[in-house]
Amino acid sequence: MSILRSMTKIRVRLLFGFLAAFLGMALFGALSYSQFTSMERKLIFLSQADSMVNTVLEVRRYEKNYFLYQHEEDFRQALAYLDQFQTMLQAEQKHLAGSMGQAGLRNLLGLAAAYRAEFAKVHAVQAPGVLPPGDSVARLRQTGKELIEASEKLANNERSGIHLLLRSYRPILVVFLLTLAGIGGLLIYSLIVKLVKPLAVIEDATKVVADGDFQTIPRTDTSDEIGTLVQAFNRMVVHLRRNNEQMVQTEKLTALGTLTSGVAHELNNPLNNISTSCQILLEEMDRVSEYHRDLLKTIEAQVSKARDIVGSLLEFARQREFKLKEEELLPVVEESLKLIRGEIPAKVEVRVMVPPGIRLMIDKAHMVQALLNLVMNGIQAMPAGGVLTISARQLHQSNLLELVVEDQGGGISPEILPRIFDPFFTTKDVGQGTGLGLSITYGVVERHRGHIQAQNRPHGGARFVVTLPLSAERS
Ligand SMILES: Nc1ncnc2c1ncn2[C@@H]1O[C@H](COP(=O)(O)OP(=O)(O)OP(=O)(O)O)[C@@H](O)[C@H]1O
Ligand SMILES: [Mg+2]
Repeated sequence: MSILRSMTKIRVRLLFGFLAAFLGMALFGALSYSQFTSMERKLIFLSQADSMVNTVLEVRRYEKNYFLYQHEEDFRQALAYLDQFQTMLQAEQKHLAGSMGQAGLRNLLGLAAAYRAEFAKVHAVQAPGVLPPGDSVARLRQTGKELIEASEKLANNERSGIHLLLRSYRPILVVFLLTLAGIGGLLIYSLIVKLVKPLAVIEDATKVVADGDFQTIPRTDTSDEIGTLVQAFNRMVVHLRRNNEQMVQTEKLTALGTLTSGVAHELNNPLNNISTSCQILLEEMDRVSEYHRDLLKTIEAQVSKARDIVGSLLEFARQREFKLKEEELLPVVEESLKLIRGEIPAKVEVRVMVPPGIRLMIDKAHMVQALLNLVMNGIQAMPAGGVLTISARQLHQSNLLELVVEDQGGGISPEILPRIFDPFFTTKDVGQGTGLGLSITYGVVERHRGHIQAQNRPHGGARFVVTLPLSAERS
C-alpha cells in the first residue's frame, strides 16, 4: 500500500522511469553482444566452410588431371588436399556437429574416407596405358560429387544461419526502440503534465495573490509533490487573507478611535452644561408647572443616556495600560460571569466547560471585558432562553488555546457576518446597543496576538471562536 502511495510521487516515477530505461538498455546491450559474438563465430566458420569446399574442388581437379594424364604427381596432390580436408574436419568437429548434426558429420567423414579408399583402389590397378575398371571410376566420381555437395551444403547452412540471426535481431531492435520511446513518452508526460502545467497554475495563482486577491487554488486530488505544494500554497493564502483582514480591521479601529475620542470630548462639555441647567431648573420647579417639570425630567434622562454613550465611546478610544501576566483561564471566565450575574435571565443557563489549570499570558482586565461582550451578546441573542456555553481546549499539537463562546439564539445572518466586528455596527434598537462590543473584543484579542472568528452553529445559534497563543509573547 505504501509502495503504491509512494509511486504517485513524481520523483519516484522519474526514478523508476530512468531505472527502467537503463535496465532496458543494459538488457538490449547484453543481447546484442551475444548476437554479435555468435554471428562473428558463424562468419569465421563460414570462411572455414568455404575453404573446405575449395579444398574438395582442388581434390577433384587433381583427380580429373590424373585420369587425363595418369601422372603420379596428380594422385599425390589429390590425396594431399584430401588430407588437408580431413584435418579441417577433425579440427572443426564440434562446430560441425552443432551445425549439421552428428549424422551429417559422420556422413562427411565417411564420404572422405570412402573417397580415399576408392581412389586408392583405382590407383592400385592403374598402370601406364591400362585403364582402370569403369565401375570403380564411376564410384570414385560419384563419391567425389557427394563430397562436394555435402561441403557446399555445410557452407550454405552457415550462410542461412547468419541470415536467421540477422532476421531475429530485427524484432529485438524494434521492441527495444518501441519500449524506449514508451518510457521516454511517459517521462515527458510526467514532466509536462504532472510538473510544468501545475507549476504554471501556481505561478498564475501567485500573481493573483500578489495583486491583493487572496484566492486559493482548487484542490488537486494528487498526493504527489505538486499536491503538497498546492496545499502549502493554500495554507499560506488563508493566513495572508486572515492577516490582511486583521490589518484592515485594526486600521479602521485606530482611525475611529482617534475620531471618537475627539468627538466624545467635545460632546461631554455641552452635555454636562445641559444636565447642570436641567438640574437648576428642576430645583426651581415650584415656579414651573407639573407638565414642564416632566419635560425637564425627560431632558435630564435623555442627557444622562447620551452621557453614558459618550462614556463608552471614551472607554473604547482610551488606550488603557496593557500588561501581560501569566494567569489561569478559569478564574478569568468566572470573574466575567460574576460581573454580569444580575443580568443573566433565569431562562438562560450558562455552562462553563473550561478545564482548570490552563495558564496563559493575558491582561486580565482587558480579557474580562472581551469575554463579557461575547457573553452579553449571547444572552441578548436568546430572549426566549437557552444554553450559553463557554469552553476551552488546547489545539492538537500546537501551542494554541481555543476559547469558544456559543449560544442557541437565532445566529448571525450571512449578510451582516463580515461587518459585525466593525465599530458602531449594531442590529439592536437605538439606545439598546452601541455596536462597540465586538470591536472592543476584536481589539483585545488582537493585542494578545490571537484571532477571533464568528460562525453559525449547524443547528442554530452563533459561535465565537477565539484562538490565543498559550505562551504569548509580550506586546
Ligand atoms: N451571539 C450573537 N448572536 C447573534 N447576533 C450577534 C451575536 N453577537 C453579535 N451579534 C450581532 O453583531 C452585532 C454587533 O455586536 P456588538 O456586540 O458589536 O454590538 P451590539 O451588541 O449591537 O451593541 P453593544 O455590544 O455595544 O451593546 C449585533 O448587533 C448583532 O447583530
Ligand atoms: Mg454587544
